[in-house]
Amino acid sequence: MRLAGKTVVLCVTGGIAAYKAADLTSKLRQAGADVRVLMTESATQFIAPITFETLSGNRTVVDTFDRNFAWEVEHISLAKAADVFVIAPATANIIAKAAHGIADDMVSTTLLATRAPVVVAPAMNTGMYDNPVTQQNLDTLRARGFHIIEPAAGHLACGDTGRGKLPDTPTLLHGIERAVTKQDLQGLRVLVTAGPTQEALDPVRFLSNHSSGKMGYALAARAAMRGAQVTLVSGPTALQTPYGVTRVDITSARDMYDAVLSRADAQDIIVKAAAVGDYRPAQTADEKMKKSDDELTVALTRNPDILAELGRNKRPGQLLCGFAMETQNLIENAADKLRRKHCDMLVANSLRDKGAGFGTDTNAVTLLFADGSRETPPLCPKEDVADIIFDRLLALRAN
Ligand code: CTP
Repeated sequence: MRLAGKTVVLCVTGGIAAYKAADLTSKLRQAGADVRVLMTESATQFIAPITFETLSGNRTVVDTFDRNFAWEVEHISLAKAADVFVIAPATANIIAKAAHGIADDMVSTTLLATRAPVVVAPAMNTGMYDNPVTQQNLDTLRARGFHIIEPAAGHLACGDTGRGKLPDTPTLLHGIERAVTKQDLQGLRVLVTAGPTQEALDPVRFLSNHSSGKMGYALAARAAMRGAQVTLVSGPTALQTPYGVTRVDITSARDMYDAVLSRADAQDIIVKAAAVGDYRPAQTADEKMKKSDDELTVALTRNPDILAELGRNKRPGQLLCGFAMETQNLIENAADKLRRKHCDMLVANSLRDKGAGFGTDTNAVTLLFADGSRETPPLCPKEDVADIIFDRLLALRAN
Protein backbone atom coordinates (compact mmCIF):
# COMPACT_ATOMS: atom_id res chain seq x y z
CA MET A 1 0.00 0.00 0.00
CA ARG A 2 1.46 3.36 -1.08
CA LEU A 3 -0.89 5.69 0.76
CA ALA A 4 1.34 6.48 3.75
CA GLY A 5 1.68 10.24 4.23
CA LYS A 6 -1.05 11.03 1.69
CA THR A 7 -3.98 13.25 2.60
CA VAL A 8 -7.17 11.48 1.60
CA VAL A 9 -10.32 13.58 1.63
CA LEU A 10 -13.12 11.04 2.01
CA CYS A 11 -16.62 12.26 1.21
CA VAL A 12 -19.43 10.13 2.56
CA THR A 13 -22.81 10.71 0.94
CA GLY A 14 -26.23 9.50 2.01
CA GLY A 15 -26.79 5.86 1.18
CA ILE A 16 -27.09 2.70 3.23
CA ALA A 17 -23.51 1.77 2.25
CA ALA A 18 -22.27 4.76 4.29
CA TYR A 19 -21.48 2.38 7.15
CA LYS A 20 -18.87 0.67 4.96
CA ALA A 21 -17.00 3.98 4.71
CA ALA A 22 -16.12 3.51 8.39
CA ASP A 23 -14.04 0.43 7.57
CA LEU A 24 -12.46 2.27 4.64
CA THR A 25 -11.51 5.15 6.96
CA SER A 26 -9.93 2.74 9.42
CA LYS A 27 -7.95 0.88 6.76
CA LEU A 28 -6.75 4.12 5.15
CA ARG A 29 -5.49 5.33 8.50
CA GLN A 30 -3.80 1.99 9.18
CA ALA A 31 -2.06 2.41 5.81
CA GLY A 32 -0.61 5.68 7.13
CA ALA A 33 -2.91 8.11 5.31
CA ASP A 34 -4.21 11.32 6.88
CA VAL A 35 -7.96 10.92 6.41
CA ARG A 36 -10.26 13.96 6.37
CA VAL A 37 -13.92 12.98 6.29
CA LEU A 38 -16.64 15.17 4.83
CA MET A 39 -20.26 14.11 5.11
CA THR A 40 -23.41 15.31 3.45
CA GLU A 41 -26.29 16.15 5.73
CA SER A 42 -28.15 13.04 4.55
CA ALA A 43 -25.17 10.75 5.22
CA THR A 44 -25.46 11.68 8.89
CA GLN A 45 -28.89 10.01 8.89
CA PHE A 46 -27.14 6.70 8.20
CA ILE A 47 -24.01 6.98 10.35
CA ALA A 48 -22.85 9.47 12.96
CA PRO A 49 -19.95 11.88 12.31
CA ILE A 50 -18.31 10.78 15.57
CA THR A 51 -17.67 7.31 14.08
CA PHE A 52 -15.45 8.87 11.42
CA GLU A 53 -13.93 11.32 13.87
CA THR A 54 -12.82 8.45 16.11
CA LEU A 55 -11.53 6.31 13.25
CA SER A 56 -9.73 9.09 11.38
CA GLY A 57 -8.45 11.06 14.38
CA ASN A 58 -9.64 14.19 12.58
CA ARG A 59 -12.74 16.26 12.90
CA THR A 60 -15.59 15.28 10.56
CA VAL A 61 -16.94 18.23 8.62
CA VAL A 62 -20.61 18.23 7.72
CA ASP A 63 -21.87 21.54 6.39
CA THR A 64 -20.36 24.75 5.04
CA PHE A 65 -21.61 26.92 7.87
CA ASP A 66 -20.07 24.98 10.74
CA ARG A 67 -18.46 27.79 12.81
CA ASN A 68 -16.57 25.53 15.23
CA PHE A 69 -13.92 24.50 12.80
CA ALA A 70 -10.35 25.82 12.85
CA TRP A 71 -9.83 26.32 9.14
CA GLU A 72 -10.85 29.63 7.67
CA VAL A 73 -12.40 28.63 4.37
CA GLU A 74 -12.74 24.94 4.96
CA HIS A 75 -13.80 23.76 1.57
CA ILE A 76 -10.86 25.49 -0.07
CA SER A 77 -8.33 24.28 2.51
CA LEU A 78 -9.48 20.69 2.22
CA ALA A 79 -9.60 20.90 -1.56
CA LYS A 80 -5.97 22.05 -1.55
CA ALA A 81 -4.79 19.62 1.11
CA ALA A 82 -6.09 16.56 -0.74
CA ASP A 83 -3.63 14.24 -2.48
CA VAL A 84 -6.66 12.25 -3.50
CA PHE A 85 -10.36 12.96 -3.21
CA VAL A 86 -12.66 9.99 -2.65
CA ILE A 87 -16.47 9.87 -2.75
CA ALA A 88 -17.58 6.57 -1.19
CA PRO A 89 -20.38 5.76 -1.25
CA ALA A 90 -21.38 8.14 -4.03
CA THR A 91 -25.14 8.59 -4.44
CA ALA A 92 -26.86 9.30 -7.76
CA ASN A 93 -27.38 12.81 -6.39
CA ILE A 94 -23.68 13.66 -5.81
CA ILE A 95 -22.78 12.07 -9.16
CA ALA A 96 -25.35 14.30 -10.88
CA LYS A 97 -24.14 17.37 -9.02
CA ALA A 98 -20.49 16.61 -9.82
CA ALA A 99 -21.31 16.10 -13.50
CA HIS A 100 -23.02 19.48 -13.69
CA GLY A 101 -20.89 21.61 -11.40
CA ILE A 102 -23.55 22.14 -8.76
CA ALA A 103 -22.02 23.24 -5.46
CA ASP A 104 -24.55 23.58 -2.66
CA ASP A 105 -22.98 21.86 0.34
CA MET A 106 -19.57 21.07 1.85
CA VAL A 107 -18.96 17.96 -0.25
CA SER A 108 -19.95 19.45 -3.61
CA THR A 109 -18.17 22.79 -3.05
CA THR A 110 -14.94 21.10 -1.95
CA LEU A 111 -15.15 18.72 -4.90
CA LEU A 112 -15.54 21.62 -7.31
CA ALA A 113 -12.48 23.34 -5.85
CA THR A 114 -10.06 20.41 -5.74
CA ARG A 115 -7.32 19.72 -8.28
CA ALA A 116 -6.53 16.31 -6.76
CA PRO A 117 -7.45 13.09 -8.57
CA VAL A 118 -11.05 12.14 -7.75
CA VAL A 119 -12.21 8.59 -7.08
CA VAL A 120 -15.95 7.93 -7.20
CA ALA A 121 -17.49 4.70 -5.87
CA PRO A 122 -21.18 4.70 -6.81
CA ALA A 123 -23.57 2.76 -4.57
CA MET A 124 -27.33 2.83 -5.00
CA ASN A 125 -30.39 0.87 -6.05
CA THR A 126 -29.94 -0.98 -9.37
CA GLY A 127 -32.71 0.99 -11.07
CA MET A 128 -31.06 4.27 -10.13
CA TYR A 129 -27.64 3.02 -11.20
CA ASP A 130 -28.81 1.62 -14.53
CA ASN A 131 -30.88 4.71 -15.30
CA PRO A 132 -29.42 6.30 -18.46
CA VAL A 133 -29.16 9.65 -16.73
CA THR A 134 -26.88 8.22 -14.02
CA GLN A 135 -24.85 6.36 -16.64
CA GLN A 136 -24.53 9.53 -18.71
CA ASN A 137 -23.39 11.47 -15.65
CA LEU A 138 -20.79 8.79 -14.91
CA ASP A 139 -19.59 8.96 -18.54
CA THR A 140 -19.24 12.72 -18.14
CA LEU A 141 -17.11 12.23 -15.03
CA ARG A 142 -15.01 9.54 -16.72
CA ALA A 143 -14.38 11.84 -19.67
CA ARG A 144 -13.24 14.48 -17.20
CA GLY A 145 -10.65 12.09 -15.75
CA PHE A 146 -12.51 10.95 -12.64
CA HIS A 147 -11.68 7.42 -11.51
CA ILE A 148 -14.91 5.45 -11.28
CA ILE A 149 -14.86 2.24 -9.22
CA GLU A 150 -17.52 -0.04 -10.67
CA PRO A 151 -20.11 -1.14 -8.10
CA ALA A 152 -20.39 -4.83 -7.30
CA ALA A 153 -23.47 -6.87 -8.17
CA GLY A 154 -25.47 -8.83 -5.63
CA HIS A 155 -28.17 -8.50 -3.02
CA LEU A 156 -28.99 -4.86 -2.33
CA ALA A 157 -30.38 -3.46 0.92
CA CYS A 158 -33.64 -2.51 -0.83
CA GLY A 159 -34.26 -6.20 -1.59
CA ASP A 160 -33.36 -6.01 -5.28
CA THR A 161 -30.55 -7.99 -6.82
CA GLY A 162 -28.26 -6.32 -9.33
CA ARG A 163 -25.47 -3.78 -9.76
CA GLY A 164 -25.14 -1.08 -7.15
CA LYS A 165 -23.27 -2.46 -4.14
CA LEU A 166 -20.30 -0.57 -2.76
CA PRO A 167 -17.30 -2.86 -3.44
CA ASP A 168 -15.35 -4.31 -0.50
CA THR A 169 -12.64 -2.28 1.23
CA PRO A 170 -9.63 -3.90 -0.56
CA THR A 171 -11.18 -3.01 -3.93
CA LEU A 172 -11.75 0.58 -2.80
CA LEU A 173 -8.19 0.84 -1.45
CA HIS A 174 -6.85 -0.50 -4.73
CA GLY A 175 -8.84 2.09 -6.70
CA ILE A 176 -7.61 4.90 -4.45
CA GLU A 177 -3.99 3.79 -4.67
CA ARG A 178 -4.25 3.48 -8.42
CA ALA A 179 -5.52 7.06 -8.69
CA VAL A 180 -2.31 8.33 -7.07
CA THR A 181 0.00 6.01 -9.03
CA LYS A 182 1.60 7.10 -12.31
CA GLN A 183 0.17 4.89 -15.07
CA ASP A 184 3.49 4.55 -16.84
CA LEU A 185 2.93 0.92 -17.91
CA GLN A 186 -0.45 1.72 -19.48
CA GLY A 187 -0.88 0.02 -22.83
CA LEU A 188 1.83 -2.56 -22.17
CA ARG A 189 1.26 -6.28 -21.88
CA VAL A 190 3.36 -7.84 -19.16
CA LEU A 191 3.71 -11.53 -18.38
CA VAL A 192 5.18 -12.58 -15.05
CA THR A 193 5.94 -16.10 -13.87
CA ALA A 194 6.02 -16.88 -10.17
CA GLY A 195 6.30 -19.58 -7.57
CA PRO A 196 7.70 -23.08 -7.68
CA THR A 197 6.90 -25.91 -10.07
CA GLN A 198 5.96 -29.38 -8.87
CA GLU A 199 7.20 -32.45 -10.69
CA ALA A 200 5.11 -35.53 -9.90
CA LEU A 201 6.74 -38.78 -8.78
CA ASP A 202 3.43 -40.55 -8.32
CA PRO A 203 -0.15 -39.43 -7.57
CA VAL A 204 0.79 -38.30 -4.04
CA ARG A 205 4.43 -37.09 -4.23
CA PHE A 206 6.36 -34.45 -6.10
CA LEU A 207 9.74 -32.72 -6.36
CA SER A 208 9.66 -28.98 -5.80
CA ASN A 209 11.56 -26.07 -4.20
CA HIS A 210 11.11 -23.45 -1.49
CA SER A 211 9.82 -20.62 -3.71
CA SER A 212 6.92 -18.75 -2.04
CA GLY A 213 6.04 -16.76 -5.15
CA LYS A 214 6.23 -13.46 -3.26
CA MET A 215 8.67 -11.74 -5.64
CA GLY A 216 6.66 -12.70 -8.74
CA TYR A 217 3.37 -11.69 -7.15
CA ALA A 218 4.87 -8.34 -6.12
CA LEU A 219 5.97 -7.82 -9.75
CA ALA A 220 2.49 -8.64 -11.06
CA ALA A 221 0.83 -6.40 -8.46
CA ARG A 222 3.05 -3.40 -9.21
CA ALA A 223 2.76 -3.82 -12.98
CA ALA A 224 -1.05 -3.87 -12.71
CA MET A 225 -1.04 -0.89 -10.35
CA ARG A 226 1.05 1.01 -12.90
CA GLY A 227 -1.49 0.30 -15.62
CA ALA A 228 -0.12 -2.75 -17.44
CA GLN A 229 -2.29 -5.60 -18.69
CA VAL A 230 -0.79 -8.38 -16.59
CA THR A 231 -0.81 -12.16 -16.94
CA LEU A 232 0.63 -14.07 -14.00
CA VAL A 233 1.61 -17.67 -14.73
CA SER A 234 1.89 -19.16 -11.29
CA GLY A 235 2.99 -22.40 -9.73
CA PRO A 236 1.22 -23.55 -6.55
CA THR A 237 1.42 -20.79 -3.90
CA ALA A 238 -0.61 -19.65 -0.90
CA LEU A 239 -0.85 -16.10 -2.25
CA GLN A 240 -3.88 -14.09 -3.33
CA THR A 241 -4.10 -13.00 -6.95
CA PRO A 242 -3.23 -9.28 -7.04
CA TYR A 243 -5.97 -6.88 -8.18
CA GLY A 244 -6.44 -6.54 -11.89
CA VAL A 245 -4.15 -9.46 -12.72
CA THR A 246 -5.13 -12.43 -14.88
CA ARG A 247 -3.74 -15.55 -13.23
CA VAL A 248 -3.00 -18.81 -15.00
CA ASP A 249 -2.30 -21.69 -12.60
CA ILE A 250 0.16 -24.38 -13.58
CA THR A 251 1.80 -27.27 -11.74
CA SER A 252 4.82 -28.58 -13.62
CA ALA A 253 7.62 -26.93 -15.61
CA ARG A 254 6.14 -28.36 -18.79
CA ASP A 255 2.74 -26.82 -17.93
CA MET A 256 4.52 -23.52 -17.39
CA TYR A 257 6.37 -23.89 -20.68
CA ASP A 258 3.05 -24.32 -22.54
CA ALA A 259 1.29 -21.52 -20.66
CA VAL A 260 4.13 -19.05 -21.24
CA LEU A 261 5.12 -19.93 -24.80
CA SER A 262 1.51 -19.81 -26.04
CA ARG A 263 1.18 -16.25 -24.69
CA ALA A 264 4.70 -14.97 -25.30
CA ASP A 265 4.23 -13.33 -28.70
CA ALA A 266 1.58 -10.95 -27.40
CA GLN A 267 3.77 -9.62 -24.56
CA ASP A 268 5.81 -6.43 -24.43
CA ILE A 269 7.64 -7.48 -21.28
CA ILE A 270 8.24 -10.94 -19.81
CA VAL A 271 9.65 -11.32 -16.31
CA LYS A 272 10.59 -14.85 -15.30
CA ALA A 273 10.63 -14.82 -11.52
CA ALA A 274 9.46 -18.44 -11.15
CA ALA A 275 11.74 -21.06 -9.65
CA VAL A 276 11.35 -23.64 -12.37
CA GLY A 277 12.40 -27.20 -11.68
CA ASP A 278 15.30 -28.04 -13.96
CA TYR A 279 14.52 -31.77 -13.74
CA ARG A 280 11.50 -34.03 -13.41
CA PRO A 281 11.26 -37.73 -12.57
CA ALA A 282 11.90 -39.68 -15.75
CA GLN A 283 8.82 -41.69 -14.96
CA THR A 284 5.67 -40.72 -13.09
CA ALA A 285 4.11 -43.79 -11.49
CA ASP A 286 0.39 -44.20 -12.19
CA GLU A 287 -0.19 -45.69 -8.76
CA LYS A 288 1.25 -44.73 -5.41
CA MET A 289 4.77 -46.13 -5.03
CA LYS A 290 4.99 -48.68 -2.20
CA LYS A 291 8.03 -48.72 0.06
CA SER A 292 10.38 -51.67 0.35
CA ASP A 293 13.62 -52.27 2.22
CA ASP A 294 15.69 -51.63 -0.93
CA GLU A 295 17.29 -48.29 -1.68
CA LEU A 296 15.27 -46.21 -4.05
CA THR A 297 16.90 -44.39 -6.94
CA VAL A 298 14.87 -41.92 -8.93
CA ALA A 299 16.04 -41.16 -12.43
CA LEU A 300 15.54 -37.53 -13.44
CA THR A 301 15.22 -36.02 -16.87
CA ARG A 302 15.74 -32.41 -17.98
CA ASN A 303 12.83 -30.00 -18.23
CA PRO A 304 12.71 -27.52 -21.08
CA ASP A 305 14.36 -24.18 -20.25
CA ILE A 306 11.53 -21.68 -20.70
CA LEU A 307 13.67 -18.56 -20.40
CA ALA A 308 16.21 -19.82 -22.92
CA GLU A 309 13.40 -20.64 -25.36
CA LEU A 310 11.91 -17.15 -24.90
CA GLY A 311 15.34 -15.63 -25.51
CA ARG A 312 15.72 -17.57 -28.77
CA ASN A 313 12.31 -16.41 -30.03
CA LYS A 314 12.28 -12.86 -28.74
CA ARG A 315 10.48 -10.51 -31.11
CA PRO A 316 11.87 -7.03 -31.81
CA GLY A 317 10.97 -4.56 -29.09
CA GLN A 318 10.12 -7.26 -26.58
CA LEU A 319 11.98 -7.15 -23.26
CA LEU A 320 12.99 -10.23 -21.36
CA CYS A 321 13.98 -10.22 -17.71
CA GLY A 322 15.29 -13.36 -16.03
CA PHE A 323 16.09 -14.19 -12.43
CA ALA A 324 19.00 -16.07 -10.97
CA MET A 325 19.23 -17.38 -7.48
CA GLU A 326 22.68 -18.56 -6.57
CA THR A 327 24.57 -19.75 -3.53
CA GLN A 328 28.05 -18.97 -4.92
CA ASN A 329 29.74 -16.82 -7.57
CA LEU A 330 26.56 -14.78 -7.88
CA ILE A 331 27.69 -12.19 -10.39
CA GLU A 332 29.73 -14.50 -12.63
CA ASN A 333 26.93 -17.07 -12.83
CA ALA A 334 24.28 -14.41 -13.37
CA ALA A 335 26.26 -12.63 -16.11
CA ASP A 336 26.71 -15.97 -17.84
CA LYS A 337 22.96 -16.72 -17.58
CA LEU A 338 22.09 -13.27 -19.00
CA ARG A 339 24.23 -13.95 -22.07
CA ARG A 340 23.22 -17.58 -22.59
CA LYS A 341 19.49 -16.88 -22.34
CA HIS A 342 19.53 -13.60 -24.36
CA CYS A 343 17.96 -11.54 -21.57
CA ASP A 344 17.83 -7.75 -21.56
CA MET A 345 18.11 -7.74 -17.81
CA LEU A 346 18.79 -10.30 -15.12
CA VAL A 347 17.90 -10.02 -11.46
CA ALA A 348 20.39 -11.90 -9.34
CA ASN A 349 19.97 -12.74 -5.72
CA SER A 350 22.04 -14.70 -3.32
CA LEU A 351 20.45 -17.14 -0.97
CA ARG A 352 23.27 -16.25 1.41
CA ASP A 353 22.24 -12.59 1.83
CA LYS A 354 20.24 -11.65 4.91
CA GLY A 355 16.69 -10.55 4.02
CA ALA A 356 16.90 -12.05 0.53
CA GLY A 357 15.48 -15.14 -1.09
CA PHE A 358 12.65 -17.55 -0.32
CA GLY A 359 9.61 -16.52 1.71
CA THR A 360 10.98 -13.14 2.85
CA ASP A 361 9.12 -9.86 2.29
CA THR A 362 12.33 -8.09 1.33
CA ASN A 363 14.93 -8.79 -1.30
CA ALA A 364 18.55 -7.84 -1.93
CA VAL A 365 19.31 -8.05 -5.62
CA THR A 366 21.86 -7.08 -8.20
CA LEU A 367 20.53 -6.04 -11.59
CA LEU A 368 22.66 -6.98 -14.58
CA PHE A 369 22.07 -5.48 -18.01
CA ALA A 370 22.89 -6.72 -21.49
CA ASP A 371 25.38 -3.86 -22.01
CA GLY A 372 27.45 -5.17 -19.09
CA SER A 373 26.36 -2.55 -16.56
CA ARG A 374 25.18 -3.46 -13.07
CA GLU A 375 23.24 -1.95 -10.20
CA THR A 376 22.72 -3.02 -6.61
CA PRO A 377 19.73 -1.31 -4.97
CA PRO A 378 19.57 -1.38 -1.15
CA LEU A 379 17.69 -4.17 0.67
CA CYS A 380 14.01 -3.22 0.38
CA PRO A 381 10.49 -4.67 0.25
CA LYS A 382 9.82 -6.93 -2.74
CA GLU A 383 7.23 -4.41 -3.99
CA ASP A 384 9.96 -1.74 -4.16
CA VAL A 385 12.30 -4.14 -5.92
CA ALA A 386 9.48 -4.77 -8.40
CA ASP A 387 9.11 -1.03 -9.03
CA ILE A 388 12.86 -0.65 -9.63
CA ILE A 389 12.77 -3.57 -12.09
CA PHE A 390 9.94 -1.96 -14.10
CA ASP A 391 11.62 1.47 -13.94
CA ARG A 392 14.73 -0.03 -15.52
CA LEU A 393 12.74 -2.01 -18.10
CA LEU A 394 10.90 1.18 -19.09
CA ALA A 395 14.24 2.96 -19.47
CA LEU A 396 15.46 0.11 -21.72
CA ARG A 397 12.26 0.44 -23.77
CA ALA A 398 12.81 4.16 -24.19
CA ASN A 399 16.29 3.51 -25.68
N1 CTP B 1 14.18 -20.95 -15.92
C1 CTP B 1 13.31 -21.34 -16.91
N2 CTP B 1 13.12 -22.65 -17.21
C2 CTP B 1 13.81 -23.60 -16.56
C3 CTP B 1 14.74 -23.23 -15.56
C4 CTP B 1 14.90 -21.89 -15.28
O1 CTP B 1 12.66 -20.47 -17.49
N3 CTP B 1 13.63 -24.88 -16.86
C5 CTP B 1 14.36 -19.52 -15.65
C6 CTP B 1 13.94 -19.09 -14.28
O2 CTP B 1 12.59 -18.67 -14.25
C7 CTP B 1 14.88 -17.92 -14.02
C8 CTP B 1 16.13 -18.29 -14.77
O3 CTP B 1 15.72 -19.26 -15.74
O4 CTP B 1 14.38 -16.72 -14.57
C9 CTP B 1 17.23 -18.81 -13.94
O5 CTP B 1 16.95 -20.05 -13.43
P1 CTP B 1 18.11 -20.99 -12.88
O6 CTP B 1 17.52 -22.30 -12.56
O7 CTP B 1 18.85 -20.26 -11.83
O8 CTP B 1 19.02 -21.04 -14.16
P2 CTP B 1 19.71 -22.19 -14.90
O9 CTP B 1 20.03 -21.69 -16.25
O10 CTP B 1 18.89 -23.40 -14.80
O11 CTP B 1 21.10 -22.30 -14.17
P3 CTP B 1 21.71 -23.33 -13.16
O12 CTP B 1 22.81 -23.92 -13.92
O13 CTP B 1 22.16 -22.45 -12.04
O14 CTP B 1 20.63 -24.28 -12.79
